[in-house]
Amino acid sequence: MSEKSRPQVKTSAELKNQDPEFQELLRKIVVSHAVNELYGAQVFDEPAIALAPTPYTKWLTCRVAMEEYGHHVRFKELGVDMGIPEEAMTPSSKKPLSIFAFPLKTWPEFCVIKLLADLAEILQVEDLLHCSFHPLRNLARMTMPEERFHAQFGKDLCTELCRTADGRRQVQDAIDRYLPLLPAFFGKSGSRNNERFRHWSIKQRKNEEMRADFLERARALVEDHLKLKWPALPAEAA
Ligand SMILES: [Fe+2]
Ligand SMILES: [Fe+2]
Repeated sequence: MSEKSRPQVKTSAELKNQDPEFQELLRKIVVSHAVNELYGAQVFDEPAIALAPTPYTKWLTCRVAMEEYGHHVRFKELGVDMGIPEEAMTPSSKKPLSIFAFPLKTWPEFCVIKLLADLAEILQVEDLLHCSFHPLRNLARMTMPEERFHAQFGKDLCTELCRTADGRRQVQDAIDRYLPLLPAFFGKSGSRNNERFRHWSIKQRKNEEMRADFLERARALVEDHLKLKWPALPAEAA
């Protein structure tokens, strides 16, 4: 790849002089993060405060919800800086991802969502840590410790729930229903869109590489750590 096709852009102001495709791809990724962080906070994290069984878990869940709303706020601020209209960064103008199409009803379901969906989010954020657009790279670096905290929260609380037979059954049941939604989160294998993101050094890895890495890390959590069963997955991911 030539240096010309791999710019290092330090500010949103500098971005305005870059290749239109590079700008468009960055707008797409910032809008997607802004919308999905907000939607996730609205349908999972905020309702989970009411589901949390103790004052301690309510306090932790409040922190998680606050941080997820905070991610939306930071991505939206970056989007505004890049000239994206605010209304384009809300769930009413862009359909949220299918991983949010899960009707959250119980506390064990929320713990499993944090265990698995936030692990998937960690992989996506990791992929931006060396992004050629530095404001997005810096935002990924700032967000990362919080996403790690969310995934650790999910791991610790699932571990706790698995100490009783009923808790184990509920965690297994939530994994069986939630995990099959996650492979699609990484996009299609052989994606042209993903190839363009890599061409411009916005993203580093192929969708299929990230999906395989996620499945390996998720399998270690489900089978090796929680000693639960790995559920049947959609054909492309299995
Ligand atoms: Fe987040
Ligand atoms: Fe998170």
